[in-house]
Amino acid sequence: MCRKPSPRKRNLLKRSPQRIRHYESHVLICTGSDCKKRGAKETRKAIKSEIRLESILGEVRLDTVDCLGFCKYGPNAIIYDGTDPKGTWHLGLDESEAP
Ligand code: FES
Repeated sequence: MCRKPSPRKRNLLKRSPQRIRHYESHVLICTGSDCKKRGAKETRKAIKSEIRLESILGEVRLDTVDCLGFCKYGPNAIIYDGTDPKGTWHLGLDESEAP
């Protein structure tokens, strides 16, 4: 069975590619409950600070996800960039190791 896309999704699909911003890198950091217990919020803040310090806010997109499936190793993140489109996993991050 094939469902029709929602009106919101249809609207997104109509957007021209020029309106969708392209980033050099995309960081997905898990802020699910297990990662949160182990300091994911602080790690996210540290990564965001590092991105600001490096003045690459326009090049790096930082998003949060609910779970990456490696809960007992958290906080976890995946970084996708032009040199590694398959993504690099970072498990057990802490604030001092912001990638
Ligand atoms: S809660 Fe972070 S990987 Fe599952």
